[in-house]
Amino acid sequence: TRNGDFATRLIAWHGGHGRHDLPWQNTRDPYRIWLSEIMLQQTQVDTVIPYYARFLARFPDVVSLAAAPVDDVLALWSGLGYYARARNLHKAAQAVVARHGGGFPRSAAEIAELPGIGRSTAAAIAAFAFDERAAILDGNVKRVLCRVFGIDGFPGERAVEQRLWALAEELLPHTGIGTYIQAQMDLGATLCTRGKPACGRCPMADICVALREERVAELPAARPK
Ligand code: ADE
Repeated sequence: TRNGDFATRLIAWHGGHGRHDLPWQNTRDPYRIWLSEIMLQQTQVDTVIPYYARFLARFPDVVSLAAAPVDDVLALWSGLGYYARARNLHKAAQAVVARHGGGFPRSAAEIAELPGIGRSTAAAIAAFAFDERAAILDGNVKRVLCRVFGIDGFPGERAVEQRLWALAEELLPHTGIGTYIQAQMDLGATLCTRGKPACGRCPMADICVALREERVAELPAARPK
């Protein structure tokens, strides 16, 4: 099916072209994966790397983070911006210790109840740490899906977003979920970019509706005025 194809192509592409050696990629520790996902939400990989190392050196686990004064957490975040991320991280660490006795919740649904963790980030953590078959849908993935499957409408609109979530779930492979999720992030960040996408190198080029219909620049649709 066209859908089975999508995951297969993506995973194969990632083998040759994705990044495999980032500091948060060779761990199954949900705390380390969570921290990386929060830092990466609004910050580029190259900026995140030294912050990530310093943060983990001071707070190696969720218990040490929960016990720290919030000002120490903010000090380690200094320069990364979007400080609500750090405050929520600290609050969430305290919630993990209080509710789960320091054991990180093991399903995307439970992870999504923590402060500062939305559905997509919770799914990424559960996929990377626990191999859960959970779909992600961040800005990069929305762009890829709108283009490859020719989905019209502004993705910030509820009906369009619901359609994208349904599609993202349909596309999930049965094995290799972590690789698949990382590949989706990497494709959107490196080839299927907002401006000047590199369609000539894209593993989806021959199934991409937007490319075939010459609508790559128009999809995803802009917010209606
Ligand atoms: N942005 C958010 N999560 C990411 C990840 N795991 N790798 C690269 N960029 C990301």
